[in-house]
Amino acid sequence: MDIVISVGGSVLVPELSAERVSRFARAVENIADSEERSVTVVAGGGKTARDYIGVARELGSNDAMCDYLGIDVTRINARLLIAALGGTAYPEPPTSYREAEDALADDKVPVMGGTAPGQTTDAVAAVFSEYTDADLLVYATSVDGVYTADPSDDADAEKLDRLTPDELVQIVMQTQMDAGTNSVVDALAAKIIERSGVRTVVLDGTEPEDIERAVLEGKHDGTEILPEDENVEQGALDEF
Ligand code: UTP
Repeated sequence: MDIVISVGGSVLVPELSAERVSRFARAVENIADSEERSVTVVAGGGKTARDYIGVARELGSNDAMCDYLGIDVTRINARLLIAALGGTAYPEPPTSYREAEDALADDKVPVMGGTAPGQTTDAVAAVFSEYTDADLLVYATSVDGVYTADPSDDADAEKLDRLTPDELVQIVMQTQMDAGTNSVVDALAAKIIERSGVRTVVLDGTEPEDIERAVLEGKHDGTEILPEDENVEQGALDEF
């Protein structure tokens, strides 16, 4: 089983803490601790990326320049996780999908950051899961699942236990059109999930052990995104 885990910067490093990064590393190691499983991690940039981008924008940088700054921060966060994983991880954040694939072939855990301007690490994780025909894509975020609208903006927003990729695209497009709101995954990621049909789970990754439980036991309180014909009962991940 090939698993891609996207870890938001806001859950990996809400503040700099060796203890927190170590807990994520232990969870990744426990998931990777079987010849039958491969794991790739994509680290986000979180508040630090936003802070740097904000200052660069004030200094007159355009969006693409700001994106490169964001990518650098995601790679710095990836390096922290690599430090905690030691020999289990590929020693550098791969800068291309091909390099990450080579790391997997070497039985190492690739820990990537961003790859190119114009997107976020949500899309990196979705593209890599498509590129490698991964079995499962997990978004460990600071929200507990996919809502019908942005819950910080709409009191009527409801959390969904499961939905189809097509429904995800509709929700993301609607959320992104409402100025000032944030969707749980970016639009490009939603479109890639739709076209690849990869099984996807969005969950609250504040406690790294919850990611482990979702992958190894199929238990989580987040949202499952599955194509219509693959919709299955709760506990769907048990087979893994
Ligand atoms: P993130 O993926 O961390 O953005 O990338 P996010 O989703 O807003 O943050 P968290 O981590 O989930 O809280 C940070 C920034 O880096 C640039 C973008 O500017 C993005 O907003 N980036 C990242 C890219 O340009 N390309 C990438 O492939 C990844």
